[in-house]
Amino acid sequence: MPQAPHRIVSGQAFDEDARIEASVRPKKLGEFIGQTRLKENLEIAIQAARTRGEALDHVLLFGPPGLGKTTLAQILANELGVVIKTSSGPLLERKGDLTAVLTSLESREVFFLDEIHRLLPSIEEILYPAMEDYRIDLVIGQGPGARIHAYKLNKFTLVGATTRAGLITAPLRSRFGIVHRLDFYTPEDLHQIVLRSAKILAIPIDDAGAQEIARRARGTPRVANRLLRRVRDYAQVKADGKIWLNVAREALQMLGVDDHGLDDMDRQLLLTIIQKYNGGPVGLNTLAASLSEEEDAIEELCEPYLMQMGLLDRTPRGRVATALAYAHMGITDTRPQHPLF
Ligand SMILES: Nc1ncnc2c1ncn2[C@@H]1O[C@H](COP(=O)(O)OP(=O)(O)O)[C@@H](O)[C@H]1O
Ligand SMILES: [Mg+2]
Repeated sequence: MPQAPHRIVSGQAFDEDARIEASVRPKKLGEFIGQTRLKENLEIAIQAARTRGEALDHVLLFGPPGLGKTTLAQILANELGVVIKTSSGPLLERKGDLTAVLTSLESREVFFLDEIHRLLPSIEEILYPAMEDYRIDLVIGQGPGARIHAYKLNKFTLVGATTRAGLITAPLRSRFGIVHRLDFYTPEDLHQIVLRSAKILAIPIDDAGAQEIARRARGTPRVANRLLRRVRDYAQVKADGKIWLNVAREALQMLGVDDHGLDDMDRQLLLTIIQKYNGGPVGLNTLAASLSEEEDAIEELCEPYLMQMGLLDRTPRGRVATALAYAHMGITDTRPQHPLF
């Protein structure tokens, strides 16, 4: 995972988030705000599996960090009334690490495998028969006397999560019965999420203040919750403790989060494309070098949101700043008009 530790608008979890998230994380599907189509689909799948007394189909969730993949995996287990066991692609270094978890799963239990795109190929291969036939092939003994023993697993549900759908291999992907993409949340959904978290954490806030935080939270619940906590600090130190609209505005400005939820790194990225490369196209590697950033961090943490906001385009020849990006940065767009076709 790329690291960008000082970005308050990063969708990645920091240590401070982990502590708070346990208390505000929805536990039931009914408490999970937004993503309506996904929820409806999961609800039907859960009910069907429960009625038949079977394990739920394997589920693959993908989408940018902070949108609720881990939360949904826990909700699935909760709704199914089963235990969840958790691991992550980079943690599984040896085959035995994975077989140990798989053989420990009881019937219908959920195995949540985060960052599934980072599994080593030799370990990923173990998953194929495990997912398809609930079987692993154990090699017993060594050398010429070695035998393969097919070990029967209990019927379990694998929930895989990834931020990079493009990096999932075709054989792995094809073994998931339910595949869903999580989209950025609307400001209305985030508004509800901010109000819900504020209530749980007993943070005084008014409607307009919650709306302001929601609007600048990059479509990401984790960011909304983090901004809420930081704005609360500001409200306590600089105001009367309650998050009113103007308090939220002042606090967010001080935190370097602009009107659109962009931070310094996003703005620097747009500025570089506009000023150094005349609006683009510029290749990702060139851009990364100019900004002294990792390509992964740019691709995973900046671009999805900038594209969603219509500020950035990815073209086969590289990244392009849109006319909207010029307007947002207050720079006149002097490029020749794109031909209409
Ligand atoms: N739909 C939602 N409704 C309410 N809160 C949410 C929702 N999705 C995510 N959250 C909040 O955002 C935090 C981050 O979600 P998480 O599931 O850890 O994201 P991911 O695993 O995709 O990075 C959670 O702790 C939870 O409090
Ligand atoms: Mg997660």
